[in-house]
Amino acid sequence: MELLELMKYRRSIRKYQGRQISREDMETIIEAGTYAPNAGGGQRSIIVGIRNAELAEKIGRLNVARFDRSRLSGSYVSAEQPSIIDDPTMKSGFYGAPSVCVVFAMKNFLYSIPDAFCCAENMVLMATELGISSCIIARGEETFDNEIGAALLREWNIPENYITRCFVLLGYCEGEYPKEKPRKQGRNKIIE
Ligand SMILES: Cc1cc2nc3c(=O)[nH]c(=O)nc-3n(C[C@H](O)[C@H](O)[C@H](O)COP(=O)(O)O)c2cc1C
Repeated sequence: MELLELMKYRRSIRKYQGRQISREDMETIIEAGTYAPNAGGGQRSIIVGIRNAELAEKIGRLNVARFDRSRLSGSYVSAEQPSIIDDPTMKSGFYGAPSVCVVFAMKNFLYSIPDAFCCAENMVLMATELGISSCIIARGEETFDNEIGAALLREWNIPENYITRCFVLLGYCEGEYPKEKPRKQGRNKIIE
């Protein structure tokens, strides 16, 4: 697909089939993440791919456990692909996606957050190109801030000075793939 067309086609998917993605596709998506622009050329981010639906569900539940609804601005996210903001009864912030990539960045590095989200953006675009649906998920910091989370990070040998910044859900869209969203006008300009 031509790049701009692919960017317009990509949607955040929150309804997934049970079908798992291939290991090869996950490797390609992670590789795309490693080629993201990164502050100072430091290549500091770490990506851990979890191609295990049961483990993804466990982490997805931790992701939603400390969701602070009191700080929401009040709008809804999507009627077609409802998020945990739209449906407070949802038990997992990962919506049943069979795979998830965890993006870690250095805790005390000034550009740690933008580095991680640049990785995530490369990954969702690569996934789209491969015909895989995706969604970027926040609340990385609090997801592993508990005993179960800390044990997982130890198991994966994540360095002490690293923190989770975001997740990229991966899987196949269940039901109709949502249409392109019209853009809000009047936000951009070009100065000559
Ligand atoms: C920084 C960031 C954080 C996001 N966090 C979440 C999240 O925690 N949960 C979720 O369901 N979607 C999350 N999203 C996806 C957005 O809700 C989605 O991009 C937005 O609604 C626009 O829809 P689209 O991606 O289909 O164009 C996040 C997106 C970004 C860029």
